[in-house]
Amino acid sequence: MLLLLSRQVSLSFVKQVIPRSPVLFSKPASLNLRTFKFKVTFSTVFANATIQNIITMPERRPFVRLPTDVYPVNYGLCLKPDLIDFTFEGKLDARIEVVQGTNQIVMNCADIDIITASFAPEGGEEISATGFNYQNEDEKVTLSFPRVLQKGSGSLKIDFVGELNDKMKGFYRSKYASASGEIRYAAVTQFEATDARRAFPCWDEPAIKATFDISLIVPKDRVALSNMNVIDRKPYPEDDSLVEVKFATTPIMSTYLVAFVIGEYDFVESQSSDGIMVRVYTPVGKAEQGKFALEVATKTLPFYKDYFNVPYPLPKIDLIAIADFAAGAMENWGLVTYRETALLIDPKNSCSSSRQWVALVVGHELAHQWFGNLVTMEWWTHLWLNEGFASWIEYLCVDHCFPEYDIWTQFVSADYTRALDLDALDNSHPIEVNVGHPSEVDEIFDAISYSKGASVIRMLHNYIGDEDFRKGMNAYLLKFQHKNASTEDLWDCLEQASGKPIAAVMNSWTKQMGFPIIVVDQEQQGEDRVLKISQKKFCASGPHNGEDCPSWMVPISICSSEDPACTKMKVLLDQPETTVTVPNISPEQWVKINPGTVGFYRIQYSSAMLESLLPGVRDLTLLPVDRLGLQNDLFSLARAGMISTVEVLKLMEAFVNEPNYTVWSDLSCNLGVLSSLLSHTDYHEDIQEFIRDLFTPIGLKLGWDSKPGEGHLDALLRGLVLGKLGKAGHKPTLEEARRRFKDHVEGKQILSADLRSPVYLTVLKHGDSTTLDTMFKLHKQADMQEEKNRIERVLGAISAPDLIQRVLTFALSEEVRPQDTVSVIGGVAGSSKHGRKAAWKFVKDNWEELHNRYQGGFLISRLIKLTVDGFAVDKMAAEVKSFFESHHAPAAERTVQQCCENILLNAAWLKRDAEDIHQYFLQRKAPPV
Ligand code: BES
Ligand code: ZN
Repeated sequence: MLLLLSRQVSLSFVKQVIPRSPVLFSKPASLNLRTFKFKVTFSTVFANATIQNIITMPERRPFVRLPTDVYPVNYGLCLKPDLIDFTFEGKLDARIEVVQGTNQIVMNCADIDIITASFAPEGGEEISATGFNYQNEDEKVTLSFPRVLQKGSGSLKIDFVGELNDKMKGFYRSKYASASGEIRYAAVTQFEATDARRAFPCWDEPAIKATFDISLIVPKDRVALSNMNVIDRKPYPEDDSLVEVKFATTPIMSTYLVAFVIGEYDFVESQSSDGIMVRVYTPVGKAEQGKFALEVATKTLPFYKDYFNVPYPLPKIDLIAIADFAAGAMENWGLVTYRETALLIDPKNSCSSSRQWVALVVGHELAHQWFGNLVTMEWWTHLWLNEGFASWIEYLCVDHCFPEYDIWTQFVSADYTRALDLDALDNSHPIEVNVGHPSEVDEIFDAISYSKGASVIRMLHNYIGDEDFRKGMNAYLLKFQHKNASTEDLWDCLEQASGKPIAAVMNSWTKQMGFPIIVVDQEQQGEDRVLKISQKKFCASGPHNGEDCPSWMVPISICSSEDPACTKMKVLLDQPETTVTVPNISPEQWVKINPGTVGFYRIQYSSAMLESLLPGVRDLTLLPVDRLGLQNDLFSLARAGMISTVEVLKLMEAFVNEPNYTVWSDLSCNLGVLSSLLSHTDYHEDIQEFIRDLFTPIGLKLGWDSKPGEGHLDALLRGLVLGKLGKAGHKPTLEEARRRFKDHVEGKQILSADLRSPVYLTVLKHGDSTTLDTMFKLHKQADMQEEKNRIERVLGAISAPDLIQRVLTFALSEEVRPQDTVSVIGGVAGSSKHGRKAAWKFVKDNWEELHNRYQGGFLISRLIKLTVDGFAVDKMAAEVKSFFESHHAPAAERTVQQCCENILLNAAWLKRDAEDIHQYFLQRKAPPV
């Protein structure tokens, strides 16, 4: 591609297509089955399988880390972006240490043209580099010098130019409209995992830490931000429309955490109780929308300071909303970047789930300021330490700030069950996974690193207890601050603090993929209850039955009906099976495993044990989180063919009096999976009727309008239930939704933010072209990105094929931000059988544009998953596989394999249980006399 660069230089760039990573997270529609048998079977063959024989790894790309003969100590970096021509000029003056004499320096560099490079040893003469050899595939450059650079310190100077790209990675441009409607661009960065090298030549590996002195030359009317506070701002001599802004030296840090932003923003600010200046930067005119995040951030910083017992090490922290942003947010040290929808809250127009999301994301990114930024993983293999830990502690932090959110129950539905679903696949991967090439790194920003990582940390925290956990964390942060650490280092510190065999227990969870199903049976012996407990690997296609079944060190807690919230006994299951005597349990009491649903495993109870637990679902004596866990376990056993889906449907009916939002939400999600599966049959309408019947009583109880004294969870529940009823075609809900929608559109009565999604969804699902036109109009008029996203996500609900096509075309139009296209197409695929086919065709037809748009990054994985995961016909797995054989998406390889596996599982599930489900529905309508 030939690119005209600014003023002085005009060079050609050889572009490469390199993919990036995902943070997906819609519940996968995985599925399958077998016969209904609630018999405990004790397998006698258990052995530790090696990781290798249980994983199907994608082919590995050759990769070598940077040589260690030269390393950076300090980067002096000056960048001058051109916000009109979309280019930038850069000057690097790095203090480096030559460890061993060499006449070459190898650095990372991608999509950058080096103009000159030279090295000057301390006190010595400058040596100009005579060659720049770009290894594009490896994203490296080798600078060759005519003489050997001797061991010792020196200064490496490089002048270079690059493009402010539109791919949402590296140093890129983000579009916005000024108050007068003029289209303008900001220049922003996203460097994790391996894209700092697109902004400046550097040693772009997390363990190669250095300090940074950053200067930006920018138009004087623009805001310029970086990791540190501004220490100087002076006119730029060559152009009086520009200023040079100089930032304080950073602490020693990894390149992926460097950031800069140049654009037009307003802000709100406040000081946290521990003296840190916190600012939330918003689009111009929207400073008010930063207040909620500001409040969360100022509460969160002292919370973490106290929890870790280590202060936040920088003088300031900025949180900024970026219009075009691929991930949800990024923890750059001192300058955290967010999607607008992960940061901005409008008191009137934001819904409760957005507030909760903002709180979680702020909690997550601020945790990284310690866990990730201060102590950084040694290599990407340990990425899960960063992401799993932050994904756990964000809940702790939100629970502290907003106890009314009952956020830990939501963790189980959002992270724990998602991780179990994904990790049950043969194409899962261990938490700790060897990665090399950037596309392999991108691939592991997935639900295993995040949600399984968070779930095993939650299990560990429960096993150790908060006090020792904090002690160990503090020791770890102090020992490794400003350095790098590996998973083992954390285990060592926690082991020291607790005196428990942490490494032995945790290695079984992080080094091998998958998790066990715990099989339990009981026997009353006098006053005692004797439990027989065994483990085997759980697979989405049924339990592992081979000779080489892996096993885990499983912390198991046990409670009884005497006090369902209290753990009566704890054991560590470190063998295939064991017998546990629980004293003083009378015969009429029930016994339950895994109270709080903390252990990362599924449970298969004997028929009698399960039977005894079910009344606890109806009379609500089981904790909400355990009602949820039980239902979710049974649903996954049905998928795996270990019980009949009909049994799960019967269990679901026992939830008719359920009051808890999260329990409903999880149930609703599973019903959605089933509904999607049954869309492949001609009795899809029957499950809609089932849904209507199940949700009607709670819908009537809640009504449409919030009542005095209601809280956050009531608002979430109302939205969930009305949306579910409306989508399932519940007539009174549909009529009321239409009435309220009309009033909303006519401006007579604006819908409350919490009712918008369910109403939009309902009217669209049962709407025509006029409804769609109205929604497009609302979308255009919407000032908040949250409202635009809300509409984009439900557009796919429209039923008529020609209208579905219009929605798909809209997805790629200028109206939709590039990062949001994925959810529009995903919404189409997830809404109906026809939608799924149309979305898949659309993705294939527009593959080049989509792949190019995301440079094969994590959004492409997410798109693929959302589009094809719900198919339930064998031949679609073959079709998907073959399409991606000829259309490469390296960072989505594992996702493609997982999707194909899910499709086959769906197809098997459907074949196995479809007829029974049908009979069950028939029988519900006309029960036998
Ligand atoms: N470090 C990630 C951002 C990231 C994600 C960089 C993927 C590169 C690739 C950040 O801390 C993160 O995890 N963000 C999440 C939000 C979080 C609340 C789960 C995201 O972007 O979805
Ligand atoms: Zn993170």
